[in-house]
Amino acid sequence: MLGSNENLIHDVRAKFAHVDSCPYQGTRVFFENAGGALTLNSVAEKSQEMAAIPDNQGRDNPAAHELVRIIAKAKDDTKLFFNASGGQVFVGESGTELLFRLISAAILGAEKGGIVLGSTLEHPASRSACIRWADIAGKDYVSVPHNAETGSVTAEDYLPHISPDTRVATILHTSPVSGMAVDVGAIAKAIRNVAPDCYIIIDGIQHAAHGGIDIDSYGIDGYVISPYKAFSRHGYGLAWISDRFTQLPHDGLIGAPQAQWELGTRDTGAYATFSEVVAYFEWLGSQVTDSTDRRARIEAAGKAIHAHEKDLTDAMLFGIGNLKGLTEMPEVGVLCGAENPLREGLVSMTVKGMDAETLVSALRERGIRVHARKADHYSANILTPLGLEDCVRVSMCHYNSEQEVAQFLTAMQEIVAL
Ligand SMILES: Cc1ncc(COP(=O)(O)O)c(C=O)c1O
Repeated sequence: MLGSNENLIHDVRAKFAHVDSCPYQGTRVFFENAGGALTLNSVAEKSQEMAAIPDNQGRDNPAAHELVRIIAKAKDDTKLFFNASGGQVFVGESGTELLFRLISAAILGAEKGGIVLGSTLEHPASRSACIRWADIAGKDYVSVPHNAETGSVTAEDYLPHISPDTRVATILHTSPVSGMAVDVGAIAKAIRNVAPDCYIIIDGIQHAAHGGIDIDSYGIDGYVISPYKAFSRHGYGLAWISDRFTQLPHDGLIGAPQAQWELGTRDTGAYATFSEVVAYFEWLGSQVTDSTDRRARIEAAGKAIHAHEKDLTDAMLFGIGNLKGLTEMPEVGVLCGAENPLREGLVSMTVKGMDAETLVSALRERGIRVHARKADHYSANILTPLGLEDCVRVSMCHYNSEQEVAQFLTAMQEIVAL
């Protein structure tokens, strides 16, 4: 969709910093979006503007009032982006820190006994937090085995492991290794049917850049993202929690309002940059729908992003013009099925007789930036069941172009012919 509209893809790319060149390497194709997406120019500008403001919130002066307004607006913008009519949004140190904070509060605040439920698909952030705090609270941790072939996990996979005493559950929205999405709403529903009071927390960190978050439809209590993976900057994480979750005991100053989950002075700049991200989604939506409704524009942007990313991954897998796709290169193995409808902009692959680090270097020498994933504490859960030591992750976003995929395939053809 975006790719077939030359003006639009041009306008989209113009909104991001360092689209086709790296200040340290020079010209390169950026296919390392799962490690950190490109930053919006508006985010970089807003960061600089806010970094220069010396004032603090909570004073009776125009600067302090403006900072409070910016934070309140960003919280509203983010709730719109998440489609969360209730609950609240707040920032923390990182996505990982917020997952630990939410998971520990849920486990310590839930009724005694029972189990904490997760899946083997999860990133170590949620898995580690669950195991650590379940142990401290005397609860058992149960891990649902994911489907290694599809690189995802379903409500049917969760079902046999859900018991009425499931106190806390975590669900990964999209895997950063397989690149496959999970039907969060279906799993949350399956959990609620058996354990209605369970606290359900979602790791949406890999999903956020791909659009289409709809918290109101999920029936959950917590959702966490890392904004640097969603076109903002490094240095903060963002969490949404439900009204019910807000009431849980949590770290905070004695005497402070119960609903306040932020710790210490808030970084107004962090909030302000996320308003820029939401404004970008609205702008993109305005290019692909006639609706002037803000949420309708955000949803339209999500659909356009998904459609364009599918075009890109299809081109990468099945070829473009007279270039062969990865599935036509006998030396290349594609993880979790080439025809996988759950794919979100990401292809993980192996090349026979070549380790992942060597392939990453060969692609770097040809101006393509990708990343190796090894069977370590980050990725062994996905790679070991597939009998793999490592893989190369090629991760795209909607600002990438078919021209860049063609450059990548040309490089791959050279490399496999070596
Ligand atoms: C799915 C997922 N969860 C958690 C994390 C950790 O995020 P951060 O390092 O931003 O805290 C990542 C980072 O790659 C991720 O992809």
